[in-house]
Amino acid sequence: MTTDNKAADLKSATSATVKPEKDFSQYFQAPSLKDAKKRGKEEIKVHYDDFIIPEEMKEIGKGRHYLLRTYGCQMNEHDSETIAGILEMMGFTSTDDEETADVVLFNTCAIREGAEDKVFGELGHFKRIKRNNPNLILGVCGCMSQEEKVVNRILQTYQQVDLIFGTHNIHRLPVLLQEAMFSKEMVIEVWSKEGDIIENMPSKREGNIKAWVNIMYGCDKFCTYCIVPYTRGKERSRRPEDVIAEVRDIARQGFKEIMLLGQNVNAYGKDFEDMEYGLGDLMDEIRKIDIPRIRFTTSHPRDFDDHLIEVLAKGGNLVEMIHLPSQSGSTEVLKRMARKYTREQYLELVNKIKAAIPNVALTTDIIVGFPGETEEQFQETLSLMEEVRYDSAYTFMYSPREGTPAAVMEDSVPEDVKKNRLHRLLDVQNRISLEKNQELLGQTVELLVEGESKKNPEVLSGRTRTGKLVHFKGDQSLVGTFVHVTIHDAKTHTLYGDLVKTTVEV
Ligand code: SAH
Ligand code: SF4
Ligand code: F3S
Repeated sequence: MTTDNKAADLKSATSATVKPEKDFSQYFQAPSLKDAKKRGKEEIKVHYDDFIIPEEMKEIGKGRHYLLRTYGCQMNEHDSETIAGILEMMGFTSTDDEETADVVLFNTCAIREGAEDKVFGELGHFKRIKRNNPNLILGVCGCMSQEEKVVNRILQTYQQVDLIFGTHNIHRLPVLLQEAMFSKEMVIEVWSKEGDIIENMPSKREGNIKAWVNIMYGCDKFCTYCIVPYTRGKERSRRPEDVIAEVRDIARQGFKEIMLLGQNVNAYGKDFEDMEYGLGDLMDEIRKIDIPRIRFTTSHPRDFDDHLIEVLAKGGNLVEMIHLPSQSGSTEVLKRMARKYTREQYLELVNKIKAAIPNVALTTDIIVGFPGETEEQFQETLSLMEEVRYDSAYTFMYSPREGTPAAVMEDSVPEDVKKNRLHRLLDVQNRISLEKNQELLGQTVELLVEGESKKNPEVLSGRTRTGKLVHFKGDQSLVGTFVHVTIHDAKTHTLYGDLVKTTVEV
């Protein structure tokens, strides 16, 4: 990797305005999952120039409102902060009101069919709103835009959409929006090949308690069920000095917690050609920064090395919580998923982590009903859960994603069996989550107070270092501070405590 100062070229117009017709590909560079799969050897450049909005677009949003809906993972949430930052630089202000918004953007997720269906439903709903407000610009971005079948479906059926742009085109939003505002036709720009890394993009962070920081982009793991490597491009790590500078800046602004983000953060630094530098090295530097809590997600078990464990064991502001998706407890299924570890290797890693970091909270993602998963193989997943005793788990029914290798495997597990497995898995996990929460009864824990409880404004909610949600009675002024509470009640997903101490030095 090299760095240079070439500005991200906002003006090079490679988008196209298109009339919805049959063969769309002649009008614009259509997204292609096949191209997105290619992994080139070319260097990734890092652009450091300030992100500048061209003069004629600076005022374009004045007096206008935007509504941004985000689906999917934290990566997308964080992209939405960039999108919001760009829109506000253009003078737009945010709104929740569908009827009066001038620009509506859907930042979409393609991970499962259900996620996509939700967006198509919303787009349908906006047909009427657009009829009442023909000047409304309706846009689709995020992972769904990277799929040709989605773009074609929008062109054919959702002509109320004005703008489609991809995950690698966010920095081009000002030009694309301008084109969409002044053209009667749909504007589409989706690059299937990942772009360079662009530093200094604006970002509009929510609140001042927790902040996300990207440490890398993309994924090269190509788990056979997963669309992400196609929608997010190849693994590209941000330079450590840039990550550290951003974390320092966030600390200076008074944020209390940072979540470092990447689809596979354990591959951090593997793409650096000029140095040997991994996630363990980065965490070891970041932990010296004066910010109370630091988390990271998501870990791939395969790249989780001893150095990282050693660094995490130092504790301090590195919290004892690791999201370590196993996906399945069956070595056979893991092999078909191309996860590249066995059940035994996974357990070995878990044991190593537990030995080095006592009280560590482990969480996981699990897919049930992967093609060919037998009842016995599913039971191995249940037994893995019992053995690891996760604090919580995100559980999913397998959903075929066109273009991925698993989509052409025989999807042999009937829907009702998938559902039944999901229920059984949840039963086991809920019992374990409750038991783990009950272990905290009578203990005093440190909380970062995040806000009022959704149901009762007199009750505040905060999270432990291990990410557990705790409700307690306290004054509004405690929001954003650290407190100690003694746990007196434990439910499956929530704990209840009494305030014992309000100011905690961390
Ligand atoms: N990079 C992260 C996860 C990204 S997607 C990781 O590797 O852990 C979040 C979760 O969605 C995955 O961990 C997986 O459990 C689930 N998932 C991904 N593709 C899926 C599919 N096709 N069907 C069902 N679940 C899926
Ligand atoms: Fe998808 Fe696997 Fe990459 Fe995670 S590691 S994003 S599951 S391909
Ligand atoms: Fe979804 Fe894209 Fe994230 S597919 S899970 S929004 S990387």
